Amino acid sequence: MLTKEYITKLKQDKNGAIAKLIEAQRDVGSLNFILENLGQLPNDFSSEFLYDLLEHSHAQVRLNAVKNIGKLNGKSNVKSLYTLYQHETDTGVRREIVSAIGRQKKCENKPLLYSFLEDVDPKIICQAIRALFVFEKDKDVEEHLRPLVNHENEMVRTIIYKEYFAKEKSAKNTLAHAETFHFLKNVVVNADVLKALKFVPDESVHLTFTSPPYYNARDYSIYPSYQAYLEFLEKVFIETHRITKEGRFLIVNTSPIIIPRVSRSHSSKRYGIPFDLHPYLVKNGWEFIDDIVWLKPEASVKNRIGGFMQHRKPLGYKPNSVTEYLMVYRKATEKLLDWNIRSYDRKTVEESKVADGYETTNVWRIDPCFDKVHSAIFPVELCKRVIQYYSYKGDLVFDPFGGSGTVGRTAKALERLFFLTEQEPKYFEYMQSKTKDSALFNERKTIFLTLEQFKESAK
Ligand SMILES: C[S@@+](CC[C@H](N)C(=O)[O-])C[C@H]1O[C@@H](n2cnc3c(N)ncnc32)[C@H](O)[C@@H]1O
Repeated sequence: MLTKEYITKLKQDKNGAIAKLIEAQRDVGSLNFILENLGQLPNDFSSEFLYDLLEHSHAQVRLNAVKNIGKLNGKSNVKSLYTLYQHETDTGVRREIVSAIGRQKKCENKPLLYSFLEDVDPKIICQAIRALFVFEKDKDVEEHLRPLVNHENEMVRTIIYKEYFAKEKSAKNTLAHAETFHFLKNVVVNADVLKALKFVPDESVHLTFTSPPYYNARDYSIYPSYQAYLEFLEKVFIETHRITKEGRFLIVNTSPIIIPRVSRSHSSKRYGIPFDLHPYLVKNGWEFIDDIVWLKPEASVKNRIGGFMQHRKPLGYKPNSVTEYLMVYRKATEKLLDWNIRSYDRKTVEESKVADGYETTNVWRIDPCFDKVHSAIFPVELCKRVIQYYSYKGDLVFDPFGGSGTVGRTAKALERLFFLTEQEPKYFEYMQSKTKDSALFNERKTIFLTLEQFKESAK
């Protein structure tokens, strides 16, 4: 019976016992089992059979053969690996070939590794780049790699940028990652968000959670066209990106909307806001992270299926829309999340840990909230989850479209700070009136400012 121990024993045999064992195998499973359990290879290992296996018809066998050839260090025959690379069609095997040649860390292999940079498969290119990074401070390698910062593939660009360009970028902001500016703490500004953000410094907020206007579906916002609406949101999220700290999150709550028909001879128009907004966000440096679906009870949403229930005619199907999206983005950075987390002291990390009972899926079942003054407010539970999962205690949470101030009140209750902008005086006043009723909002003073007052405080 084939066992790991048996293979290890035969491996030490200088008379090619493994090669004989391999030759005797009839099925691919056993062949792969042997190849995968060879472990470290002795210096005097007779390896010819591995090169024969490069011709095997089964890709997994070829891959395992290449892997083992890679373990032969200086003694492996790079030429046969390169010959295989030239006609190999399996991407896994091709990648393993590059990795095996790279693992030798030999200067004489540099021209081969450069040739892999021309491959059409970005994974091969990335593998070759990693292999070339071994030759640290090698001018020739650097000259070959630096231009790839303009490569058409995003993964390639990111690796090169991180290695050669990110370090050159001077730190824009002297404020520590966990800190923010005093004049933004628990402040609500009654102004157009774009005007207010002119006075907000780069990298000041830790999290943005917002629900933008629903194009022209509600009366608080009227845009000349859908394109104008998307371009307005693009500007808001470019500015939000600028004021967001490195590697921090933006969560945008939107859903497709319907603009009702003007008469019976027209049809209503549906706009896929989350899908149309997404390219603008990604284009401007927001890295897509997750889509969370907010699921509402069917009884709480507008009934659209009524007509279909009567006629049952295909094409006339209009399901009740029980979902909205929470699109999660991160300010693109070459730093890992760990870097962000390490910016906080131990106590803050400990105290911000999410308690048991957190949501484990991307479908959040939450009842919507109805309000007598504002027609589209966040349920507190939705805000709570976002703030708890995507910020630390003491962080500054921003909502450019403040509405009734749910994000502010919830941030405060969770020991975070907040900064809101809201254009409509009636909602700004409503927020102020809510502040009077709410003990939570009163605990630490909330500052309500006009644009002029905010401009002064920013000086
Ligand atoms: C969907 S509501 C947000 C409701 C909020 N999430 C809440 O829980 O109350 C969008 C809000 O954005 C505000 N708004 C629209 N355009 C704005 C702009 N240019 N600047 C600031 N606020 C704006 C509207 O007045 C409205 O209150």
